Amino acid sequence: MYNFSAGPACLPEEVLIRARDEMLDWHGSGMSVMEMPFTSDEYRQIESHASRTLRNLVDLPDNYHILFLQGGAYAHFAILAMNLGGNHGAADYVQTGHWSTRAINEAGKIIRVNIAAGSEDSGFDHIPAYSEWNLDPEAAYCHITTNETASGLQYHWLPDTGAVPLVADATSDFLSRGIDIRQFGLLYASAQKNIGPTGLTVLIIRDDLLDRGMDILPAVFNYGLQARNNSRINTPPTWSIYMAGLVFSWLKERGGLDAMEKINREKAGRLYDYIDSDHYYRCHIAPADRSLVNVCFSLADESMTDVFIREAETQGLRNLGGHAQQGAIRASLYNAMPVEGVDVLIEFMSDFSSRHAVHRRSTGRKPA
Ligand SMILES: Cc1ncc(COP(=O)(O)O)c(C=O)c1O
Repeated sequence: MYNFSAGPACLPEEVLIRARDEMLDWHGSGMSVMEMPFTSDEYRQIESHASRTLRNLVDLPDNYHILFLQGGAYAHFAILAMNLGGNHGAADYVQTGHWSTRAINEAGKIIRVNIAAGSEDSGFDHIPAYSEWNLDPEAAYCHITTNETASGLQYHWLPDTGAVPLVADATSDFLSRGIDIRQFGLLYASAQKNIGPTGLTVLIIRDDLLDRGMDILPAVFNYGLQARNNSRINTPPTWSIYMAGLVFSWLKERGGLDAMEKINREKAGRLYDYIDSDHYYRCHIAPADRSLVNVCFSLADESMTDVFIREAETQGLRNLGGHAQQGAIRASLYNAMPVEGVDVLIEFMSDFSSRHAVHRRSTGRKPA
């Protein structure tokens, strides 16, 4: 069985097995991680292992903090505006699809939002060229969504926003490729794609941005306060942090983020090459902006979409349905999806399109 879910998504099997083995008794403590006080020595070891390993994975400079928070990325859409927007009138946002639109709507409740660039007019099929961005040099920050999970659109370059901090929702591509954190002032990601189980939001923030919050900011969402208290203002999501630590170790054992990127490029490359070679399938995202982790495509005969998804399920290819508002097909290829999963999917797609030859002819596929 291969699970192509966009999130919560498949986790590395080795991690699940280790968690199973440690479930009832973590390292001879007699307790499950779920039962430990978050102030205990045992839990502190677990948390410091997770944060040390992540720091090492992303080669985090000393002037950045890792926060383990809750609320999900959706909560932080507004919370980050409360944290960074304190003394500023406005923030720049780039609107590239479903999630950046949600981020804009939520931040708009707190701060004046300037849409610096967007591709709504063309159905969010590309990322606007940097030369078209209308950035405000006085903005509190500039926000991008590094990977639009719903439509499969991803930045393969980063803007130079100068003195204005670059803020990124990296929920669906964090840890899927190499990253230079120095290019960001703040980066945040919900865990349930490439980090671990849901319930945890990882946030990485540069020192100078810690204390720009509004007075009304709740303590648990005050990034400065949380940084000074090791993310322990209240009970942290201990199990999710433990699981994330296991995933971070798994990534390190596999050669780190550059090694993961190589594999992820291979997986996505194979699938896009196949889609482009078979006229029965099409991907509407501009080739330069296609996501390595969420490959979205439609069938030439859209009435066959449900049949495709149902048949795929019977063959053990699970959760291929597109995002609720996008429809069509979405194959999520996060770190835990093996290359073989992509090969089996391509085999199924090839078989499916050949069995629906009537539709294929009608779309003008060239005979082999
Ligand atoms: C890019 C992106 N941002 C934000 C979210 C919202 O995350 P959560 O539901 O954990 O708040 C998602 C969820 O899929 C996402 O993909």
